[in-house]
Amino acid sequence: MSPRKIIIDTDPGQDDAVAILLALASPDELEVLGITAVAGNVPLPLTARNARIVCELAGRTDVPIYAGCDAPLSRPLVTAEHVHGKTGLDGPVLPDPTMPLAEGHAVDFIINTLRREPAGSVTLCPLGPLTNIATAFQRAPDIVERVQQIVLMGGAYFEVGNITPAAEFNIYVDPEAAEIVMKSGVDTVIMPLDVTHKVLVTKPRNDAFRALGTPVGKAVAEMTDFFERFDREKYGSDGAPLHDPCVTAYLLQPELFEGRHINVEIETASELTLGMTVADWWRVTDRPANALFIGSVDADGFFDLLTERLARL
Ligand code: RIB
Ligand code: CA
Repeated sequence: MSPRKIIIDTDPGQDDAVAILLALASPDELEVLGITAVAGNVPLPLTARNARIVCELAGRTDVPIYAGCDAPLSRPLVTAEHVHGKTGLDGPVLPDPTMPLAEGHAVDFIINTLRREPAGSVTLCPLGPLTNIATAFQRAPDIVERVQQIVLMGGAYFEVGNITPAAEFNIYVDPEAAEIVMKSGVDTVIMPLDVTHKVLVTKPRNDAFRALGTPVGKAVAEMTDFFERFDREKYGSDGAPLHDPCVTAYLLQPELFEGRHINVEIETASELTLGMTVADWWRVTDRPANALFIGSVDADGFFDLLTERLARL
């Protein structure tokens, strides 16, 4: 069976980096057509830089990396250096990237790729604010029906917010973009905080990364050591939540996850609950289901997969 074609849209971010490494370690199952950087955890120049650092760490400088939107559709950018550090990839000491950015804007790459590849053969994997995806859909509505599936990290229901009391960061940064994506009609799978808070890098799991004895294993251990501070302090978590790698793991082993096909709408008006994913988990409305909203995961199976694949790099 030929590998599944994906585009990873990302704002690295330590957890984005692990998601990208997991994808690049799985070439038999996933063909990464390109990586598109978006402003989010840190400003665009840094997310575009960090994406290149990660690809070089994986020895995959063949993967084109495009810079995309440097601000949300209609709001000022909110970043998360308090979580990811000033560089967005604090923790390990990694060399400056030498691979260049690919020519052209990320949004044009998304549009051109979806127009070139057979309809229904490309999956979009957003790991940050949805600005690039929404801009592509607005600029080229013809590509929407050509998308095979969207598997994204964002939102929350039972877990509510991590950047405000009501909203998860990726959705909060660009709620208008999230609304466009959620109303697009594309087959969408959502990895919310409800599931990502269940894959914590406990010390034994971090030790297993380090025990790989490779530059990748060491870097991932150091990234997650740094990245856990925010959640440990706020939630008392026993380790860093690997938000974005849930997207990649779902593509590789969907059976690790469970969720419900429900309606998910985005709050874009109220300042109090801006960016909230209003998930009709209990199906109390007649609003049509528009997403598979994931609520649970086999965490040990997730880490077995992740660690085994990272060992391949
Ligand atoms: O809320 C978690 C999400 O926001 C993750 O994608 C993390 O990388 C940040 O982008
Ligand atoms: Ca991210």
